[in-house]
Amino acid sequence: ALERTLSIIKPDAVAKNVVGEIYSRFEKAGLKVAAARMKHLSRAEAEGFYAVHRERPFFNALVEFMISGPVMIQVLQGEGAVLKNRELMGATNPKDAAAGTIRADFADSIDANAVHGSDSLENAAIEVAYFFPATDVYTR
Ligand code: CMP
Repeated sequence: ALERTLSIIKPDAVAKNVVGEIYSRFEKAGLKVAAARMKHLSRAEAEGFYAVHRERPFFNALVEFMISGPVMIQVLQGEGAVLKNRELMGATNPKDAAAGTIRADFADSIDANAVHGSDSLENAAIEVAYFFPATDVYTR
């Protein structure tokens, strides 16, 4: 089915200047950018976005990392977009990420892991709405 998912290019990948290379992977896989915005997240915004992880031991390090520099946030639209984006990203820990995935090619560690992608269609809707009003998401 035609889906939308939220993608974030994290501060490490923005700093490496590989936003275009990562967008190219989305496009080549048939995903379309339906909304996009660069933003330096506040602590409150990062904590709110990752609220489901609040009790996890890595929460504080995750928030610190996510506010360490600007991120590129986008809505990706396409057939099976949630799973397709997760396949393009590869495993959360770049040590486990398959060759040719975004994390295998651009990530340095489980924290500085280059990209975030929604893990389910249900969370995708919540995450898209967290950053983009419906009027800023374009059907493509
Ligand atoms: P992301 O998909 O953005 O969702 C939560 C992030 O927490 C994850 O990517 C990782 O960058 C980070 N993280 C750090 N340690 C862990 C861990 N042990 N398990 C899952 N995520 C972790």
